[in-house]
Parts: sequence; C-alpha cells; structure tokens
Amino acid sequence: MQILKIRDFFGTLERKRMAKIIYVTTDGKRHEVEVENGYTVMEGAINNNIDGIVAECGGACACATCHAYIDKDWLGKLPPMDDMEDSMLDAAYERKDNSRLTCQIEVSDALDGLTVFVAENEY
Ligand code: FES
Repeated sequence: MQILKIRDFFGTLERKRMAKIIYVTTDGKRHEVEVENGYTVMEGAINNNIDGIVAECGGACACATCHAYIDKDWLGKLPPMDDMEDSMLDAAYERKDNSRLTCQIEVSDALDGLTVFVAENEY
C-alpha cells in the first residue's frame, strides 16, 4: 500500500514536469508560461490564451495557423522539421528561415526557456 503511494507520488511528479516557454505576440508583449512536458508548443499557447496561435486543425499539421518564428539561439536545439511540416509551412504567411509550426514541437526539459515569436496567423 505504502509503495503504491510512493509510486503515485513520483508518477505525478513525472507527469507534471514543466518547461518555461516564452511567447512573444505580434504586439511585442512577452508571455512566460509553464507548459507540461509532452504537450506541444501550440497546445501550451492555446491553454494559456496566447493571442495569434489559432491552430485551426488542432495540431494535425494541416493549417499553418500555429506558425511562429523561433528565436535563433534555439533553432538548432529543436527536433528537425519533417517533410510534412516543411510543405505546410509553404502555405504560411511570411515564411522565414526560422519558421516552424508550433504544433510539431513537443515540449521537454530540453526546451526550458524556448522563445517563439508568434507570426501573423489571423489574416
Ligand atoms: Fe494546424 Fe499546427 S495547428 S498546422
């Protein structure tokens, strides 16, 4: 019984590991939020009411309305973009070298402090 409680305790800690993600919205405001590991950067934005991340397709990599520009210091630390994301980004407004779809970036401890600049997704 006691062992189960200890396991539950550590299980809860594991599930609730968080990373700080910084969203800079198009009005220049900086929003620092804690996002649970395993969620995507897009889900972190939606759950924290970050303006500009629309996510019309709900994370299926089919709309490009979760487009953001990644802080250049973080670009090399993200998992590489796959062909599907690359193709969908071609439909995004003002794609740049540091463009990514935030629904394709999973939050982890390694991304603690990640800064993303929300793109114009509501046009
Ligand atoms: Fe639609 Fe990311 S939410 S492509």
